[in-house]
Amino acid sequence: MGEFLLRCSECRLEYAEDPALLVCPECSGEQETGGSTRGVLEVELARLPDRWPGHDPSDPRFLAEFLPVSGPASFPAFPAGDTPLLPAPRLAARHGLDGLWIKDDTRNPSGSTKDRASLLVAAKAGEYGLDTVAAASTGNAGTALAAAGAAAGLEAVVIVPAAAPEAKLVQMLSYGARVVRVDGTYDDAFELCLAACREFGWYNRNTALNPFTIEGKKTAALEIARSLGSQSPDVVLVPVGDGVILSGVAKGFADLKTAGLIDRVPRFIAVQPKGSAAIARAWAAGADDAEPVPGAHSVADSLTVEAPRNARLCLRNIRESGGAAVAVSDREILAAIPALASRAGVFAEPAAAAALAGLEAALRDGLVGRTESVVLLVTGSGLKDVPAAARAVQRPDPVEPNLKAIARRLGL
Ligand SMILES: Cc1ncc(COP(=O)(O)O)c(C=O)c1O
Ligand SMILES: [Zn+2]
Repeated sequence: MGEFLLRCSECRLEYAEDPALLVCPECSGEQETGGSTRGVLEVELARLPDRWPGHDPSDPRFLAEFLPVSGPASFPAFPAGDTPLLPAPRLAARHGLDGLWIKDDTRNPSGSTKDRASLLVAAKAGEYGLDTVAAASTGNAGTALAAAGAAAGLEAVVIVPAAAPEAKLVQMLSYGARVVRVDGTYDDAFELCLAACREFGWYNRNTALNPFTIEGKKTAALEIARSLGSQSPDVVLVPVGDGVILSGVAKGFADLKTAGLIDRVPRFIAVQPKGSAAIARAWAAGADDAEPVPGAHSVADSLTVEAPRNARLCLRNIRESGGAAVAVSDREILAAIPALASRAGVFAEPAAAAALAGLEAALRDGLVGRTESVVLLVTGSGLKDVPAAARAVQRPDPVEPNLKAIARRLGL
């Protein structure tokens, strides 16, 4: 159990695990700061299970079969993953689709998909005997690290842009993280975290640098295929900022195919906001790397990234799957919040609701067929950004406390 190596996603060189090794030294050697990461490392397990483990996907015994740890005891008591794959017949009917499911990752312990990666990073920090883990974050990755760190007894240092939503900030502080708010962008926070980890000797959980951030998120794919009876859906739509969640999901399906547990992988459709669409633009241009978008902005704070760190691998995963990337407006993202909540019972933050807005765009563009099976990965809870959701609904004025007033208000 647990034997693995790290393989460069670009030059294919292999490395033994080492907490100080984040990216391939051969490929990243000349890299200036900023821009997409070169030489992202992927985990390659020596052995993958050839049948589904008999345990639930949140059980450390299940996780240890698929993830690069020395055994189940490496995992802290932090039940990330094992979220439901909800059939969404009302939403499907609305869009004329035969089969639509929502992977409801709002139900992770701290409310986002990022918990999956932080669970694995916390496990690895424990194995390495490290006591402080740091991350730059738009909000959710830092919250997830703080939460997993609290469960594991690790110090979490989180560097966020000062504009991070209040709920995410309060959440990470409550979990006990040491939080640094920088007057700058997420991209600034990323570089600062890198320098701080070097200077202070902290373990770096920055997404698309720490190889376990991709690997940890692959459990979403394992659960989707398992829920569908060892099948892949035709299409998975994934909201994309840095592009690590998409690569994690792609890695999960790739591992299952290698293990012989599924026969084919789905197409991946990346969804980005129009104001922060470096990867979608690169896709449209047929490029294999993204040009940074200075001044990137969106109501979907979690997707607001000037230079997506994992652009190169993400674009390759999309291409190899036969997928696509779409860009949606902030108006479409906001409208998707009540659409998803009222038709499927899932309250999502803007970044996560973008998956539904992306489905609408993909259907318009003919990228998804009506008879195909489709999964939306809904990556974060609406409770993390209530002010954004409030922009998409009408708050009723108070009425007098009597039945007549209720009848008048509700038009009865
Ligand atoms: C809720 C949510 N959805 C999607 C994303 C995008 O993930 P990635 O940056 O790996 O593309 C994030 C990242 O912060 C997120 O928090
Ligand atoms: Zn390399």
